[in-house]
Amino acid sequence: ILPLAVVAVFAYFCGCFNGAVIVSKYILRDDVRTHGSGNAGLTNFYRTFGGPLTLVVILTDVLKAIVAVWAGILAARYFLGGDVLTIALGKYWAGAFCLLGHMFPCMFGFKGGKGILSGGTIAIMIDWRVALVVWGGFLILAVLTRWVSLGSIWAGVSFPFVTWFVYHSWVLLVLAIFLGGMIVWKHRGNLKRILSGTESKFSLHHKADG
Ligand code: G3P
Repeated sequence: ILPLAVVAVFAYFCGCFNGAVIVSKYILRDDVRTHGSGNAGLTNFYRTFGGPLTLVVILTDVLKAIVAVWAGILAARYFLGGDVLTIALGKYWAGAFCLLGHMFPCMFGFKGGKGILSGGTIAIMIDWRVALVVWGGFLILAVLTRWVSLGSIWAGVSFPFVTWFVYHSWVLLVLAIFLGGMIVWKHRGNLKRILSGTESKFSLHHKADG
């Protein structure tokens, strides 16, 4: 239990390194959360500022998720036995707390992002089949509709299903429902806007307060 508790705290703090907040607040001195959708994520950062700093946002959110999930893998390997299911548990466990940190970062007033870039990285770290379903659907929907959020909602909904198909584990299913559920819940505003046809469409040409 202790290794899991340590991983939880470590992964949460990794997650708190929200790329969009850090770059906008400390480099651009203009908090991304006061623009566009108000979300502290890649989509809203690009929508608001664009430019090469977007790469720093991507790098931050991808790297922190990799570090967090690796902590879960190492804990599972060295303290919990290290079979395939235990390592998967380490990944899902660390991923869930990393995502919590990203969405609710304690040092940024608990106002973070919606967990797509970090969640997508976690999916890649978990298993290629999980990544394929989550990312494949995300890309198809986001490109066809230009609603990034619709692809994101797909990612959140499909994640528990593909987890079940790959692992047939109730524990992992519960963790996957938690992870996917947090993502869908974070997108509830987007879902309303999609249904009413007012959701903003992704454009390569960013504009302030788009
Ligand atoms: O990156 C999260 C995306 O799914 C939606 O972001 O800013 O359009 O609400 P946003």
